[in-house]
Amino acid sequence: MAENNPFPGENNTGHVWDDNLRELSNPPPRWWMIGFWLSLLFVVVYTTLYPSWPIGQQATPGLLGWTQIQEFERRVAQVEARRAPFEEQIANLSAEEIIADPGLLQYTLASAKVLYGDYCAACHGSGGQGNPSYPVLADDDWLYGGSIARIKESITNGRRGAMTAHADLLTEAEVDALSTWVVELAEGGEGSAEGWDLYRAKACNACHGEAADGVLATLPDGEIVTVGAANLTDGIWRFEPGGYESARHTILYGVNQQGVPQTRDAVMPAFGTVARVDDVEVRKLSPEDIKKLAIYVHQLGGGS
Ligand code: HEC
Ligand code: HEC
Repeated sequence: MAENNPFPGENNTGHVWDDNLRELSNPPPRWWMIGFWLSLLFVVVYTTLYPSWPIGQQATPGLLGWTQIQEFERRVAQVEARRAPFEEQIANLSAEEIIADPGLLQYTLASAKVLYGDYCAACHGSGGQGNPSYPVLADDDWLYGGSIARIKESITNGRRGAMTAHADLLTEAEVDALSTWVVELAEGGEGSAEGWDLYRAKACNACHGEAADGVLATLPDGEIVTVGAANLTDGIWRFEPGGYESARHTILYGVNQQGVPQTRDAVMPAFGTVARVDDVEVRKLSPEDIKKLAIYVHQLGGGS
């Protein structure tokens, strides 16, 4: 073949096309070769120092002993060290004292916002604006009271309001009259006198209060006494879509009634109890986290 090479003496490979198009075997430029050998050197040095070559389930450990998990733990420890002084204060101070310290409050709200996103937003909405059939937290209308102590109680122990199903207790006309009256109130009206009479006669006031605002009594410190019954006078519907049919449904089938398939579900999980998972005790949220969340929710509701 070499003797047929039409361009002898040139470092071509002997492959020629179209009379004179040929493949040469020149070495690559020097700069390229230097880069090539340097990168090879880098691979050797790097894989000697750091974990690299797989051997079965393991990999060569590398001379430096570096591992990703150690790196992760070191970074986490750095973050914990910065948080520690704040966390310690939160554990030791009351909610009122935390609120009075602007720096600590800022830390608390930032930290609680993350917790809120993880544990609460799915039901109550990312800004506490509520969701169909989950109560709004970002207003001044509370089923169980909006003080920090009450909010803490709601988060720690959970809530499960109960309203009797009245399908078997009221006539169709009474259900209709009460539903109409509830809508009147919600729309800002006074409500008919007959409606109020029926409301009391059927003992709705035992839970919803004399003024139908969900409040049974107000304590000297401003705290309200309730059983979690909705305020019927404020136009905020607890159960969507609100209006006549919604009110009627709630009156007929009640709230959280066992054995009543159409009943309204209204269960707030308890976040302070110790759950058992695979026989290991898991506290859902620490008392510190609950304190942070109570402060966060309190300020969502205007802080009053
Ligand atoms: C599975 C849905 C769900 C999750 C998750 C949830 N909640 Fe609730 N929450 C409810 C329901 C339903 C109620 C109303 C209970 C009732 O009507 O008796 C409620 C009530 C409350 C109340 C009382 C409101 C009032 O008006 O008095 C507070 C405060 C509250 N939730 C805060 C939280 C916080 C903070 C979290 C996160 C740690 C959270 N909730 C997570 C469903 C949920
Ligand atoms: C045993 C206590 C109890 C009694 C008695 C009771 N309710 Fe309720 N009611 C509740 C609770 C608790 C809720 C739901 C609050 C929550 O979970 O958000 C509720 C909710 C409602 C709602 C839904 C309001 C909304 O915004 O969607 C209406 C309407 C209502 N009640 C009307 C009545 C009427 C009318 C009567 C009398 C026939 C009555 N209730 C009797 C406890 C009671």
